Amino acid sequence: MANLESNRRIKNIEYAPEFTTVWSFPQRGNWATHNPSYRGNFAPQIARNIIEMYSQPGQTILDPMVGGGTTLIECKLLGRNGIGLDINPQAVQITKQSLKFNHTPATVQQVQIADARNISFVEDESIDLVLTHPPYLNIIKYSEPTIEGDLSGISSAAKFCDEIEKVAGELFRVLKPDKYCAILIGDTRKGRHYVPLAFGVMRRFQKAGFILKEDIVKVQHNCSRTGYWKAKAPVQKFYLIMHEHLFVFRKPDKGENTTILKNSAYNM
Ligand SMILES: C[S@@+](CC[C@H](N)C(=O)[O-])C[C@H]1O[C@@H](n2cnc3c(N)ncnc32)[C@H](O)[C@@H]1O
Repeated sequence: MANLESNRRIKNIEYAPEFTTVWSFPQRGNWATHNPSYRGNFAPQIARNIIEMYSQPGQTILDPMVGGGTTLIECKLLGRNGIGLDINPQAVQITKQSLKFNHTPATVQQVQIADARNISFVEDESIDLVLTHPPYLNIIKYSEPTIEGDLSGISSAAKFCDEIEKVAGELFRVLKPDKYCAILIGDTRKGRHYVPLAFGVMRRFQKAGFILKEDIVKVQHNCSRTGYWKAKAPVQKFYLIMHEHLFVFRKPDKGENTTILKNSAYNM
């Protein structure tokens, strides 16, 4: 069992809420059982900011691609119930392990294998907040050989967005009206071109019915391949990608008039 500092002490030393749409965490939080060993995991500061901004203690938060468990560790520390799903049994094991610490008040953290494109066992309109972080195409492969349905096995941006649209549909279904869904996603390059994967994903979430609430730019640190590309970038005339997008969407409230978004200058 990990020996935890109190939440107050954690906040004073390592965490402060964000106030702008640019977030940068050169030092990732390492409180509780958080650690950087799950490849590509996000900083606990991301989960803590989103959870504190968009949910209340006692509510239920879903991360359908939970990876190493960052979202659920924060759920437990912040008094929220968590549902963590992943297609990879190894991720599920790691998350269960990372939740082995004592914390009060007691919460329920449910972790299981599932494909985020089909979570029919989660009831309609039962979730208070979604926070998730899919693979960015096949930049990091999370299973080898690829587990059927693992989105990190997809190399085509169009195909990836088609599958993300299925995830978005499920998240829209399970989220309560007027609640929020946050997703961290990055871009990539193909040959000499920039592939704006994040905007493709954003459009699919809008297509599923979500309204864009925030586009937060998250500065990337400690990318393992940055050194390699740094030498090539000026020669081949490109800039190193050093940001990701943290989109926050809102599911419209029941009976909410969203025509302003469809008919006005906001419609692109
Ligand atoms: C970027 S990682 C998530 C990291 C996580 N935010 C953390 O901090 O540890 C993406 C995860 O999505 C999972 N994944 C890929 N395809 C999936 C699918 N169809 N359903 C559920 N999980 C999936 C991968 O196994 C991987 O663990």
